[in-house]
Amino acid sequence: MVTTPIYYVNDKPHIGHVYTSTVADIYARYKRLQNMDVFFLTGTDEHGLKVEQSAEKRQIPAQALADENSLVFQEVMKSNEISFDDFIRTTDERHTTQVQAFVEKLLKSGDVYLGKFEGWYDEGQEEYYTETKAKECNYESPISGKPMVRMEEENYYFKLSKYESKVKELLETNDSFLTPKERKNELLQRVNDGLNDVPISRTNFTWGIPMPGDEQHVIYVWIDALMNYITAIGMAQDGEEKQKYWPASIHVMAKEISWFHAVIWPAVLMALDLPLPSRVHAHGFWIREGRKMSKSLGNFVDLTVLNKFSNHYGLDGFRYYLATEGPIGAQDANFASSRVQEVYGTDLVNTFGNSTSRTTAMCVKYFDGILPEKSDDNSKIFEGYDWKSICEKEAAEAVCAYENMELNKATQAAMRIIAKVDLFITETEPFRMAKDPNERENLGAVLYQCLEALRISACILEPILPNKVKEMHAGLPLYANESDSMEKRLIWGGIKPGTTVSKLALFPRLDPLDENGEIMKEAQAPAASKKPAKKSKTKVKKVYSPETQAKIDAQGALIRSMKESGKTNDDAEVAEAVKILKELKASE
Ligand code: MSP
Repeated sequence: MVTTPIYYVNDKPHIGHVYTSTVADIYARYKRLQNMDVFFLTGTDEHGLKVEQSAEKRQIPAQALADENSLVFQEVMKSNEISFDDFIRTTDERHTTQVQAFVEKLLKSGDVYLGKFEGWYDEGQEEYYTETKAKECNYESPISGKPMVRMEEENYYFKLSKYESKVKELLETNDSFLTPKERKNELLQRVNDGLNDVPISRTNFTWGIPMPGDEQHVIYVWIDALMNYITAIGMAQDGEEKQKYWPASIHVMAKEISWFHAVIWPAVLMALDLPLPSRVHAHGFWIREGRKMSKSLGNFVDLTVLNKFSNHYGLDGFRYYLATEGPIGAQDANFASSRVQEVYGTDLVNTFGNSTSRTTAMCVKYFDGILPEKSDDNSKIFEGYDWKSICEKEAAEAVCAYENMELNKATQAAMRIIAKVDLFITETEPFRMAKDPNERENLGAVLYQCLEALRISACILEPILPNKVKEMHAGLPLYANESDSMEKRLIWGGIKPGTTVSKLALFPRLDPLDENGEIMKEAQAPAASKKPAKKSKTKVKKVYSPETQAKIDAQGALIRSMKESGKTNDDAEVAEAVKILKELKASE
């Protein structure tokens, strides 16, 4: 089971939501490609004071507001092709009845009890703070900056304190439970301050699930929300087949809700006597121009802007940007339209797209699109290019990267293979071989090796670029059967001689967009694509990162090969390739 958080219906969808879902989607697709039986869950979180207040403001029932906004989230998930298996709403009857059943169980076991509480409350977050933590934050919400309020309530409490040592042990000893590993210390520090029992009911509003046996109280939104992971699969219903999906393999989210998922949630599960999820992955935040995105700053990358980017670059093109530049680990990431353009241009147009179109075109031109007999002869290894080992090594790295949620590393493995294919073409010169009838066999072998390496790269990228890879499969068969596992797809030798290949053009060149998703006029385009400033006379050899250097080498090789095949600098294709080379060099 793979999950996203359930999204607050009081908020408008933005890049944070789409990102968390995309990351979970990539992971779910990767696991499905490993022939795992994946149940991918998402949904909406619909109760609480804020929803009640927003509905009051609009003079509509809270349920109507929830219905409206839940639908927006459902549409966002669908239009972003998030491959969820179930969409749970906390107002679904299947959810509310099971939450009550679970809370009743906790009441019976004594893990939930009635008590009095006085403390500091963050109204925006609907969260209580300990005196120490409230003081540390200057009695202001660390999220909204608004003053915390002193509240006194008779509440039902969850005995979190009882699970302090177990939660501590979990965080301290199980390194794979909470990733990235940097999150562990943040939470442990808080756990070490001591875990107080937490109020899990409210009486100051009514829009929530009634407390079983005491309808004056509604169940606290976080307890209600967290339980979605087990209500969706019927953990409180007898004979529900989906229960097999528990414990979840991974809960994906951003860092600000890791406390609830890696401290409160395990304790609740321990109290319910249920196994714990195997992993909580709490990624970083998307920020803008170095600043947090917030309602008050009004700087969210919202749905309108997001749609412009995915319409322009294609869903896969934009997913690739999210996957490679997003805050998947401990750090936050800056959203920048210039980077979307660079990443799309460098990796997808110039590397993946270009190499695929060149190689498939050669196969069509020299062999009428049919891979010749014996071209898969593994004894034909060209010097420095043991493709089987190269691809095996990169594929293993990519799989390991997906496991670790290092999406960028997975794409880099594919890009390294492709950059090498370009170099290989330059060095082996298939256009020269094509002129010599004695070189037919070698030509077939070179093309086979290029296409096979590209096939493996595509299989590595499939969870990130599902549509493009499908498109590619139509022109260059990537696997024999749809049900073949990723492991099988990544084995060298998948394409067989006799296979028909057609010319592919996967990623068109595109104009850049500005930060609001509007197409930029040439005069506004980033400096890198304008005429470079005059060079100084002393030549200093610049040192690039290995990734950029590999791309520079591949681009250089591409230009050389174009020239060798008779093209000149006046040729539009060569001019474009030179421009890209310059952009690459200017990118660091
Ligand atoms: N309803 C709760 C989750 C309950 S799960 C039992 C919630 N919802 S949310 O809609 O506010 O946030 C949903 C997800 O979006 C969370 O993973 C949150 O961390 C993520 N993001 C919100 N803003 C974000 C960024 N700026 N960047 C990346 N992700 C962020 O929390």
